[in-house]
Amino acid sequence: MSMKLTDSLPEHNRDCRWFEALRCPNCLMQLHRETALICEGCGRTYPVRDGIPRFVPEENYGKSFGYQWNLHRLTQLDSHVGLPISRDRLLRESGWSADELEGREVLECGSGAGRFTEVLCQTGAVVTSFDISNAVDANAASNSRFTDLRLFQASIYDLPLMEESFDYLVCIGVIQHTPDVERTFKTLMRYLRPGGKFCVDVYAAIVAYPHLRHLLRPVTKRIPPPKLYSAVQSAAPRLLPLSMRLSAVPRVGDYLTRLVPVANHRHLGLTDAETLRTWSILDTFDWLSPQFERPQPRRRLERWCTELDLSDFTIERIRGLYVIRGTK
Ligand SMILES: C[S@@+](CC[C@H](N)C(=O)[O-])C[C@H]1O[C@@H](n2cnc3c(N)ncnc32)[C@H](O)[C@@H]1O
Repeated sequence: MSMKLTDSLPEHNRDCRWFEALRCPNCLMQLHRETALICEGCGRTYPVRDGIPRFVPEENYGKSFGYQWNLHRLTQLDSHVGLPISRDRLLRESGWSADELEGREVLECGSGAGRFTEVLCQTGAVVTSFDISNAVDANAASNSRFTDLRLFQASIYDLPLMEESFDYLVCIGVIQHTPDVERTFKTLMRYLRPGGKFCVDVYAAIVAYPHLRHLLRPVTKRIPPPKLYSAVQSAAPRLLPLSMRLSAVPRVGDYLTRLVPVANHRHLGLTDAETLRTWSILDTFDWLSPQFERPQPRRRLERWCTELDLSDFTIERIRGLYVIRGTK
């Protein structure tokens, strides 16, 4: 007896009727379900591994992210930390309330391990979420309990989705890590319905924000992820106490810490030493490993929003980020 596609699916995907909403990224025709997804138009085949449709080759520029998020599947999830750090950040950055998301179609782009997927699913939204890397496996392992989660592996540039089909779009911590940030931002907006709301953040290109890590990344991004990770795992806990002392210096602490290339989450209110160390290792690796890191100036973001005719957009600076939000 041949195995049906649904037999291999994890619980959250077993009722895979939502696959019907997926389209071939190449020609936008419907996909026919067999053991893989096959395009009824151009005949291309997309594998479904561990219940997750895959629309990108395994080898892609997001590999280091897949590595980090599968090692740190739980580290930043609110349900694991016991604090609403991701929930507060998502609601603060977007300006949305959890209530308004209930029952709405939300597209989350670049989910990583799913810290914001968890928050979005908890609101009762119907969440479509994807990542270019196999971080989607980590996300599925943590968030498969949510029946309204639709998860796949794909790139923003080749999405298996119909345009203008989402009420809300959220993309946090992602676009600066793509090869063409303008194209990324403009592509994302195509998936939002007219009148839909978006929240996208990006590293801010600010002259006053030099950081030692920026000098290191051109070298460290070439180191194979496991090797770089073990170096970070041994160096970060040693540097963290110095960074903590510097960050406690009144007025100039924030500037002094930039001399030490280690992520320091003192400002998040994490008090447990082991948790601080783990976050530090994760985010130091996250700083040093990405293939692309392209901070953006405010004026350029304004221009993109204006060119797309996005109504009532705002760009707010929050620490080293610009948060762009508005309505299509
Ligand atoms: C710094 S992580 C942020 C993950 C998550 N949003 C969070 O804040 O925890 C950036 C993520 O963007 C993903 N990414 C980068 N380029 C992408 C693309 N073209 N399409 C989809 N995801 C992409 C990476 O694989 C990575 O998981």
